[in-house]
Amino acid sequence: MDTGTEREKELAARAAAALIEDGMTVGLGTGSTVAHFVSALAARDLELRCVATSPATETVARDLGLRLEPFGAYSKLARLDIAVDGADQVARGGWVVKGGGGAHTREKIVAAAAERFVVIVSSDKLVDEIAPPIPLELLAFGVVTTVDRLGSTQLRDAQTTPDGGVLADWIGSVDDPAELAALLAATPGVVEHGLFPPDLVSEVLVGRGGEVERIEPS
Ligand code: 5RP
Repeated sequence: MDTGTEREKELAARAAAALIEDGMTVGLGTGSTVAHFVSALAARDLELRCVATSPATETVARDLGLRLEPFGAYSKLARLDIAVDGADQVARGGWVVKGGGGAHTREKIVAAAAERFVVIVSSDKLVDEIAPPIPLELLAFGVVTTVDRLGSTQLRDAQTTPDGGVLADWIGSVDDPAELAALLAATPGVVEHGLFPPDLVSEVLVGRGGEVERIEPS
């Protein structure tokens, strides 16, 4: 891994950790940038209740002493104060692509439950236009017909998600992210896609060189 990129991820992660206040409920995303965030957050030693978006994040967070809450049927939490997550692509207009790690369904649920959703990235994640691949989680039942209906979709050589979903990627063109998001959401068998609209994203913290740039999606 390029140490400059790793340093940028760490800077963005630390800036996000500084936003967290004692007593907050916090959604924890998934990935290498979030791993920096979880470490920086744990080091602050605050009283928090956290929800993890993947078993990997849950393990790391628990090992570092963060208090994890269930987010399933017996969860007492319907809303979170803040959620922090990484991304694969961030367009200046605010569209974000997530799911490189296959956790985008849980990540979108957690982002949507949060009052404030903060995306943390290194500068190489900024793009002029959103491009394929766009991660998909598909229901295992009927997956062959779902892929056939979608077209331009490649199944990933990956384990199923913790929720039993099959991971795939849309590899067709992305001329208009909103149009593609609507098409994917309307296709039977698509559990969730990795396009996150600008109105879901409160802010993006970008590590760039030794600085952190803050972008507010329009
Ligand atoms: C996982 C994700 C990740 O947040 C995304 O892939 C970025 O990962 P990283 O911080 O390792 O670059 O969406 O589903």
